Amino acid sequence: MNLVLKIWRQDNAEAKGKMVEYPMSNVEGDMSFLEMLDVLNEDLINKGEEPVAFDHDCREGICGTCSLMINGEPHGPDRLITTCQLHMRKFNDGDTIVIEPFRATAFPIIKDLVVDRNAFERIQQAGGFISVNTSGNTVDANAIPIAKDMADEAMDAATCIGCGACVAACKNASAMLFTSAKVSQFALLPQGRVEATDRVMNMVRQMDLEGFGNCTNTGACEVECPKGISLENIARMNREYMSAIVKG
Ligand code: SF4
Ligand code: FES
Repeated sequence: MNLVLKIWRQDNAEAKGKMVEYPMSNVEGDMSFLEMLDVLNEDLINKGEEPVAFDHDCREGICGTCSLMINGEPHGPDRLITTCQLHMRKFNDGDTIVIEPFRATAFPIIKDLVVDRNAFERIQQAGGFISVNTSGNTVDANAIPIAKDMADEAMDAATCIGCGACVAACKNASAMLFTSAKVSQFALLPQGRVEATDRVMNMVRQMDLEGFGNCTNTGACEVECPKGISLENIARMNREYMSAIVKG
């Protein structure tokens, strides 16, 4: 397959970026999207040019690092997969593929396609945990019976990999889907109820401080989320937040 890649190149956060065209030939359908970029980079290095910086780690859909906007969609045209799980057979000979970083004020560009997603870490640190006595008297979590449907819902919320596609897809650059998944995975379980009020207040406060926008119920986040995180989590977080306000 012969392709034309249009890739966002930007030296650093302050530099002015621009789209640069790279023709690619002999691209195999079985290559993953990231392998195709590896081939491009090998070629650029061999020519003495600067390779394209892009994020990746596990390449198995687990870590959430591979953040690429491909033809205007976070993680590309497929559903329920990450960029590292996308294969070139999804594209056709002669296609032009536009590759950009996840764009949001709260995700400043570091270089080319790499953005700083530490805002998510700070939201998580604001409340995405439970306080457990680990001094040797820790209560076995399995000693507390949990209804199967609640355990399933909590596990579904916990599958969020913090990739940021929800933010990139949202016209408001809202982080509500991510934050609500992190709030929900604890709110649904008895162990998480103990600190539930502080958790939702602190995580929402941090989310706002980071400069993410508000949710206006468009639903693009749910469509583009590689883990199928449901909008129901946002509704749950809103209920948790209102209840925390009422409790004062
Ligand atoms: S909610 Fe989905 S899109 Fe958003 S960070 Fe989690 S896994 Fe990624
Ligand atoms: S590189 Fe880990 S999810 Fe893609």
